[in-house]
Order: sequence, then structure tokens, then C-alpha cells
Amino acid sequence: METVTTIAAVRERVRAWRAEGLRVAFVPTMGNLHTGHVSLIEAARRHGERFVASIFVNPMQFGPNEDFAHYPRTPEADERMLADAGCDLMFMPDAREIYPQGSGRSTRVEVPGLSLILEGEFRPGHMEGVATVVTKLFQIVAPDVAIFGEKDFQQLAVIRRLVADLCMPVQIVGAPTVRDADGLAMSSRNQYLTPEQRALAPRIQAALQAAAARVRAGEPDTTAIERAGAQSLEQAGFRVDYFAVRQAADLEPPAGHARELVILTAARLGKARLIDNVQVSRP
Ligand code: PAF
Repeated sequence: METVTTIAAVRERVRAWRAEGLRVAFVPTMGNLHTGHVSLIEAARRHGERFVASIFVNPMQFGPNEDFAHYPRTPEADERMLADAGCDLMFMPDAREIYPQGSGRSTRVEVPGLSLILEGEFRPGHMEGVATVVTKLFQIVAPDVAIFGEKDFQQLAVIRRLVADLCMPVQIVGAPTVRDADGLAMSSRNQYLTPEQRALAPRIQAALQAAAARVRAGEPDTTAIERAGAQSLEQAGFRVDYFAVRQAADLEPPAGHARELVILTAARLGKARLIDNVQVSRP
């Protein structure tokens, strides 16, 4: 595996592969790779003949009081993990390479509606930061296919929409969430949890599954399901940002005829803000 830090170097390598007719798969990450990322890497290997990963902790997607400065950075371990996984090219730019004018002065990409709800409501500017950096990374890497985890369900929806709206020739593939044995979705932010909080954290998945069971049983009142889900987490000691039942296709509140739904939550436990979701079909 080769590691590069400049846009010019990525473009040169990808151009050479393309000249050989090879299909390029891309996994954008913020590093601190764990088993959850390995599943993205495996999906990338199934979808392409050359595989690029980026590691960039994107300042634009963090709010002023969020964990940008403390976000775990483990570049050497990440490099080893990517090399072991068969990655061909690791792109690890610094902030000046991506935002030469500074992230506050860069052109931004906003996906109306989708980026302003749920995460967008509680983390203003977050989805815009994600949409902007992913657009830039796609312009740099020019992949045929890019892989994103379904744990960040709204992020995946935003990226699918921006790719369609901006006519980008990139196939977007969602990879299933990878969980610890007790159901907690893997995330770099899980390491902010104390042992006591870690023991409580699987309640998020349990609350989502309980809500999904009510949807599957045909309960029509999704507001009551949301309220019960949020209450169960609050009672267990979480501070809930949202617990929402939405249409899977566009994250709008469910219309009567909508069958494919997703239940999404974001809840805080100590210093950690955890997100998770479950997809469910109405009978
Ligand atoms: O999911 C992430 O790790 C990030 O939001 C992404 C897609 C790499 C953009 O910075």
C-alpha cells in the first residue's frame, strides 16, 4: 500500500489505474479504524479492482463545542490495518490540502431538507460539512464506487441525494452496521464511555428493536412509538436528542401508505453522543 498526502498524487495514481481499465473503489473515513470499518473495506474489495481509503478528520463537520480537537487520531495503526486489508492507496491529507482558504471560507454543499433535519437540527452545519468534504473527496479520487456505513443512515441518504443532484458518476453502496456482541453499534466515539456507561449503551439498540416490533405489529401511532422509545432511554440515564420514526426513502415523517421505515436515534451518555437506527417494514 502506498500512502500519499496530496491531491496531485492521488489523481496521478487513479489516472494510471483508469488507463488500465481498472474499477476504483473508495472508502472515506476519519481514521481510528475499527472492525466496523473493516466491513466497509471488505465491501470495497468486492466492488472494485483497486481500493483507495482516505483518512481525514474533517473540521467542517464539527460544531464549535464538539470533539474535533479530541477526536481519536491513530494514523500508524490505521495504516497497518488498511495495508493488511489489501488497500492500494491511503490518502491522508492535512487540512490545508483540503481547505486551502480555511474550512470557514470554502464553498459549501448543502442538501436542502435532508441535511437540516434530525442530525442537522442538533448539530447545525454537520451534514453540510459532510456533504462538502465528500463532494471534494469524490472530485479528488474520482471513484467508480464508494462505500458508507448504514449506521450513519442520514449521512448515507444525504450522500445518495448529492450524488444524484450533482450528476456524479459514483455508485454509492451502503454497508450493514457492525455491532459488538451485546448489540452496541461500533463507533470511534464508544471509547468516550466509562465502563458503567458502556454497560448501559446497548439499551439504544434494545429501544430501537422494541420500537421496530411495534411498527411490525401494525401500530399506526408512530408519535406514541417515538415517545415511548425516548422515555425508555431517558429513564435508563441517556439524554435523548431525537428518537424518530421516518420513511426510509427520504426521512420524512411516515405517510399512511409508506411501508419501508427507519427508526433513528441520537442519545448522549456522559461525553459520548451515540447514534443508531433500525430499518423496518410495516405489515
Ligand atoms: O462517516 C465518516 O467517517 C465521515 O462523516 C466521512 C464520511 C468520512 C466524512 O468526513
